[in-house]
Amino acid sequence: MRRRRLLGSLLLTVAAALGTAAAPPPTARAATPTVPLDHVVPAPAAVHEGGTPYTIGAGTRIRVPGGSGDARRIAGYLAGLLRPSTGYALPVTTKGGDGIVLRLGGRGTADLGAEGYRLRVDGRAVTIGARRPAGLFHGVQTLRQLLPPAAGEHRERAGAGVPPGGGWRIGGGTIADTPRYGYRGAMLDVSRHFFTVDQVKRYIDQLAMYKINKLHLHLSDDQGWRIAIRSWPRLATYGGSTQVGGGKGGYYSQDDYREIVSYAADRYLTVVPEIDMPGHTNAALASYADLNCNGVAPPLYTGTHVGFSSLCVPKKVTYDFVDDVVREIARLTPGPYLHIGGDEAHSTGHADYVAFMDKVQPVVAKYGKTVIGWHQLTGAHPAKGALAQYWGYDATGAAERQQVTDAARNGTGLILSPADRAYLDMKYDKDTPLGLNWAGYVGVRRAYDWDPGSYLQGAPGEAIRGVEAPLWSETLSTSAHIEYMAFPRLPGIAELGWSPRASHDWGSYKLRLAAQGPRWDALGIHYYRSPEVPWPAG
Ligand code: ACM
Repeated sequence: MRRRRLLGSLLLTVAAALGTAAAPPPTARAATPTVPLDHVVPAPAAVHEGGTPYTIGAGTRIRVPGGSGDARRIAGYLAGLLRPSTGYALPVTTKGGDGIVLRLGGRGTADLGAEGYRLRVDGRAVTIGARRPAGLFHGVQTLRQLLPPAAGEHRERAGAGVPPGGGWRIGGGTIADTPRYGYRGAMLDVSRHFFTVDQVKRYIDQLAMYKINKLHLHLSDDQGWRIAIRSWPRLATYGGSTQVGGGKGGYYSQDDYREIVSYAADRYLTVVPEIDMPGHTNAALASYADLNCNGVAPPLYTGTHVGFSSLCVPKKVTYDFVDDVVREIARLTPGPYLHIGGDEAHSTGHADYVAFMDKVQPVVAKYGKTVIGWHQLTGAHPAKGALAQYWGYDATGAAERQQVTDAARNGTGLILSPADRAYLDMKYDKDTPLGLNWAGYVGVRRAYDWDPGSYLQGAPGEAIRGVEAPLWSETLSTSAHIEYMAFPRLPGIAELGWSPRASHDWGSYKLRLAAQGPRWDALGIHYYRSPEVPWPAG
């Protein structure tokens, strides 16, 4: 650093002597400070700092020695992120050597599982090794956070903090990182308000930064049916024609949907489609009179009440409908899960609810998928292998919790989305302009400061498959709305899903979280500047 300053002043003297403008040349800038290797969200499992930093410069290459298609694609993704902000060429090559090196498989990766990675930094290289492509991708997300926030900016927008030719330094050391849970989800409700393919892609990019690996899409509800079903076309063309408040709504063609699935898969997120049944079905009932017990189609619905609609459990046509819908959606779904909802079926009698779930779960299995249901499914007979998504909260009764923990003891896996912790649509506090508050206010600390491993007393540890942060959209209709509710809470849920319990500490987490703010500024993410977080000034 001292040498650089000396050289800088020397050059300035030369520049002055030559009578040229006094702007310091790039080499005159002080080297950017490095980000501590443990200053990452979610917190890595193990960090050892030390050794020489690596500097990304004009000559840096991204290397995938003998690389597979997956490694090459991930290298291309990283280059695509960094080229606009650095202005460097960052060529991707399969030749070995120094630089940014992405290695899939081989020595030292056997212990990294399906999603883990090892990142090593020394003076010659940043090397990310993983057993599987998802791990390599997660390692790349960690690397992004070790660069200055301006790494997220495009060159045209990048300010004086970006050192053209001056390099970005990454501190020396090693990170070895694997996730605590395999299921780390985020849900987007595209039914109450419709979000376009581009809006969903934008959210996927944001989720990937925090190593979220499931995107649960709530595709149907009372207010809108959002996916084209060829055998029942009016579901989308009519049932998708409005939304909360009476806007024009919308739906995904099957090609649109494939595009979302593929974009998510390229970022190692599995899409979990949800068709909510037997309640939350007004859009379907409005589209086909036959689905109603009285044969009369209700009008479309643009309000926000819940619990008033039900498929007609005794009618045969209901199961023709379910079979067709599940078959078509299963065919569009490379992932293992199909979510059948099952919440708030207040207009379905209990015996009917149980009978319905007994008939529908085998249909999901017939088309090769694993059932996920909201935790009310545990009041019926969850199929073998099914997962229940717990969305209760502190006010949830003991009997309901008991039902869930009993099911967990009998083999039903659990995804935890407690509404007063993980629901991103709850207001932060009384002044939050968007969102709801039926589960209370959910501040940033409250969203982070709980343990999925002990949250549901009586549920065996192995039953907990992970966490999910749902975002219901009764009050949300733009990407800015999504981002305001998701950031800064979503990274907290992501960390609960990824990081070892031993790293859990609000005091240090809030500092790591605060450091994300300038990154979100650089990326144009419209986050809420919660007073709970000590954001850097500026
Ligand atoms: C839900 O919030 N009704 C699952």
